Amino acid sequence: MKSVKIGEIVLKNPVALSPMAGVSSLPFRVICNGMGACYSPTELVSARSIRFNGVDKSYRYMRISPEEEGITAIQLFGSEPEDFEAAIETIMETPVLNKVSIIDINMGCPVPKVVKTGSGSALMEDPVRASNIVKACKKTLEGLRVKIPVTVKTRTGFKAGDNGKPDFAKALADAGCDMICVHGRTRPQMYQGESSVRAIAVMREAVRDYVIPFFANGDICDVDSARKVIEQTGCDGIMIGRAARGNPWIFEQVTAGLAGKEIPACPYSGERKKMLIRELEGRLKYLPEETAVREFRSVMPFYIKGLPGGNQIKVRLVNAKSFDEVKEILDAD
Ligand SMILES: Cc1cc2nc3c(=O)[nH]c(=O)nc-3n(C[C@H](O)[C@H](O)[C@H](O)COP(=O)(O)O)c2cc1C
Repeated sequence: MKSVKIGEIVLKNPVALSPMAGVSSLPFRVICNGMGACYSPTELVSARSIRFNGVDKSYRYMRISPEEEGITAIQLFGSEPEDFEAAIETIMETPVLNKVSIIDINMGCPVPKVVKTGSGSALMEDPVRASNIVKACKKTLEGLRVKIPVTVKTRTGFKAGDNGKPDFAKALADAGCDMICVHGRTRPQMYQGESSVRAIAVMREAVRDYVIPFFANGDICDVDSARKVIEQTGCDGIMIGRAARGNPWIFEQVTAGLAGKEIPACPYSGERKKMLIRELEGRLKYLPEETAVREFRSVMPFYIKGLPGGNQIKVRLVNAKSFDEVKEILDAD
């Protein structure tokens, strides 16, 4: 695997966690990085909300820990360059957040609430605005005299039938974007159907002459699918999303496989339960117990997926109300 640089940041390997709302908690990101992910961005946070409400409301979503995580990335979404400028200024005035390594811009979110405001994947239909957002972020960071790269995560199209947006990728690169990651689905596909390696390759090709790294994303679930995407798109790196939920071991497996090393065995049930508890303990450090357990209900089933008796454990876990109850359910099995 060749070494990849985002701006001046050298990645230890080309395999990152893909940002996922409700999943990419700080403890999970620390776990994934410990398992081999080169970095793990936060979930999307509204630039406008930071601009007008400050960081308090969104702090829990963009909480970073450079000491534990290594390379950190905060993902912002929005549609107004001014919102990004103000959000970045606020982030850079906030202790710890101002140690962030990368600012990532979401230009792929398909959720109607986000698209309606001209943010997320809607920006694919407005390359001038998208470029202005990248330029505004770069200019703000330069003005603050910090060398923080600005990256973009996007999709292969806004409309059904779009087969990659080469001009959009070029516009981002021309605007000074330091890395582009493309998920091989269009907005209407949401997370359904196949991620198109071919459409990703079209966008990769469009920015081949630029020095910036290009990442591919979508349906990577093991060493073979990782290899296939890298070979067929010529990308420099990959992001893994859903397959990492409750399965951070995927990073040690994929990084070993890509490096030509022996692939570590899948974890046994005790290890998986221990990891579930570790993530929950991490969430409890900054959330009230009731909130932490309730929010973790959607994630816990992924940790026990496929285990003997997993279905019965799942039914009980998704109703659990406290840390002790979660522990009891897991210990009883
Ligand atoms: C529950 C969930 C939440 C997501 N939240 C975000 C997000 O906050 N920001 C983002 O850029 N992408 C988000 N995504 C998209 C993923 O990062 C990724 O692009 C997509 O799932 C395809 O990759 P995969 O097949 O490896 O999961 C989310 C996906 C899921 C399933």
